[in-house]
Amino acid sequence: MSVPVILDVDTGVDDALAILFAVRHPGIEVLGITCVAGNASLAQVVDNTLRVLDAVGAPDLPVAAGAVRPLLEPPRSAGHVHGLDGLGGVPLPPTQRRPEPVGAVELLRRLILEHPTPVTLVALAPQTNLALLLRTYPEVAGNLERIVFMGGSASVGNATAVAEFNVWHDPEAAAIVLDANVPAYMYGLDVFNRVAVEQEVAAALEHGDDPLGRVVGALLGHRIALSADEQEEYTGLIGDAGAVCSIVDPLALRTEVRPVRVELAGYGRGQTLVDLRGRRGEDMVHGLADEWANVEIALEVDATRLTRLFLETLGLAGR
Ligand code: RIB
Ligand code: CA
Repeated sequence: MSVPVILDVDTGVDDALAILFAVRHPGIEVLGITCVAGNASLAQVVDNTLRVLDAVGAPDLPVAAGAVRPLLEPPRSAGHVHGLDGLGGVPLPPTQRRPEPVGAVELLRRLILEHPTPVTLVALAPQTNLALLLRTYPEVAGNLERIVFMGGSASVGNATAVAEFNVWHDPEAAAIVLDANVPAYMYGLDVFNRVAVEQEVAAALEHGDDPLGRVVGALLGHRIALSADEQEEYTGLIGDAGAVCSIVDPLALRTEVRPVRVELAGYGRGQTLVDLRGRRGEDMVHGLADEWANVEIALEVDATRLTRLFLETLGLAGR
């Protein structure tokens, strides 16, 4: 029985890897994909997403454009991480595919409410589309199995010392999603930063004879240069794809259900505050505890197992 999912993406090098995996894995049925500004501009994200669907020979599934910027913040693309085209310069041919004539919120509403069983919403980007959906059609929560999101961190940040990019990009949106009382699964930097393909493997794929392998190898091999004078570093992270992998192999990760809230002010704006205490604290004793959402948080991962799942699903293991 495959899991019906909708992906919300800001394609993005690792969003591309996630799309490839989701389309190919037999245990996942991709009902549709919605796009949001984040790693790149909305128009670039839509075009990248359509081209990635061609690269993996995806069926004709609906793709819709969503928010052009966060709810409050200005758009801040991550060109220094994903390249100016959002795909690390990996050349994918132009596509004949076209986005839906409706926006992301409408497509999400339709796909969720029309599906006969609860749908899993997979958020791999700033959660602006999800927030707009939940504020416009709160009834969709009734047919959502859960929201699996790549975002946040119980430890280190990346956009800032303490905040992860997707949540930092639109903190209000993330707070709205956590407040929606939909079961949530957080695939944050605590595990995101650990799941990587070895450089030799990525290089072999990039220069191999498998067309999809060449795309995957090039995406994995995209190097991040956070500033002009920095040495470009190989990461090989499968990134967002790991969040999708967690759906088909949840036992590859150790999770805990913990209270989470999003910090909206000060330097910590965009940080996901995760309460890892083993007992009540003064804030609770004295009625000072803010509203927190209980979220299933991935804290540890068998990185080798997830990387193998990713490569095997794409038919690229052992190449
Ligand atoms: O912090 C990593 C996240 O930000 C990933 O989803 C990446 O694609 C970017 O959107
Ligand atoms: Ca992303």
